[in-house]
Amino acid sequence: MINLMLMPCTIDDRTPAPGADELAAGLLAESAWISPKFLYNDLGSKLFEAICELPEYYPTRTEAAIFASHGGAMARASGRGATLIDMGAGNCAKAAALFPLLQPSQYVAVDISADFVRDAVHGLQQRYPHIAMQALGLDFSSELALPASVGAQQRLFFYPGSSIGNFTPDEALAFLQRIHRACGDDGAILIGIDLEKDHAILDAAYDDALGVTGAFNLNILRHANTLLGADFDVRQWRHEGFYNPSLARVEMHLTARSNLTVRWPGGSRRFSEGERIHTENSYKYRQASALDLLRRAGFGQAQVWTDPEQWFAVIYARAGAPA
Ligand code: AVI
Repeated sequence: MINLMLMPCTIDDRTPAPGADELAAGLLAESAWISPKFLYNDLGSKLFEAICELPEYYPTRTEAAIFASHGGAMARASGRGATLIDMGAGNCAKAAALFPLLQPSQYVAVDISADFVRDAVHGLQQRYPHIAMQALGLDFSSELALPASVGAQQRLFFYPGSSIGNFTPDEALAFLQRIHRACGDDGAILIGIDLEKDHAILDAAYDDALGVTGAFNLNILRHANTLLGADFDVRQWRHEGFYNPSLARVEMHLTARSNLTVRWPGGSRRFSEGERIHTENSYKYRQASALDLLRRAGFGQAQVWTDPEQWFAVIYARAGAPA
């Protein structure tokens, strides 16, 4: 039997599909769109880290404060020795902050940005040599296929940062159902969900004064140039980020500054001045609707922790029926 505890971090570099077809389809749609997953190339992941440091971007620090205040209760709910599966791990910092409390037996960091997550896991493995670690470069937005090397017992899916908000409610339900299926009877989820709040706070969080979110959004065009061979000129586009109250979501768009044509091998698209490419939605939930979503996905026995202003919720819920 292989002793994973003594193994260095293993890398399963299943590079995501290039995505060129999906990009072309979105650009040719009547209302052009690019999936938000393309925000996260190497530079995009670093820009997102910078966003998390911004004073306007409250989710990261609010969620961190909830973990700091209630991490002990979360650890009591989940128990020690779990297989901690970090979905969209990025730099792995959020999960790593919980290691002393959760004391996982295995840590699996999953992210679409394979190189970024691999580097993060390499660094972490030095600090926590007793935890078996893996980095998985996976696009889990439409399917979740974990390799056999991921422990099947006591799986705890960690999905912080309100990334669930980047799915439509229907997609979010399907995603949570996939996680529920992967949980087994003794698995659970620990998820962070951003809550509805004052619109001005949301507008500022997604259109910050330094323009970091704008750079993050515009970088998706550079990524499209790389993957699709398109000729986007970033300077011809403007970032927009605002709350749409009728759909309870923040929307990010890129707006053409003038009439222009974008070309790529096998296709092209004319954009008029003011025409947009829709790049991201970030849905905001009421606590009751978040709990209902988890219940419909099959999860139960939920425990909820929030900040004093009720801006953000962290929810632990079990996959199996109550004992
Ligand atoms: C990753 N995700 C939860 C972030 C959000 O808030 O929707 C992505 C983001 N987009 C702009 N700023 C941050």
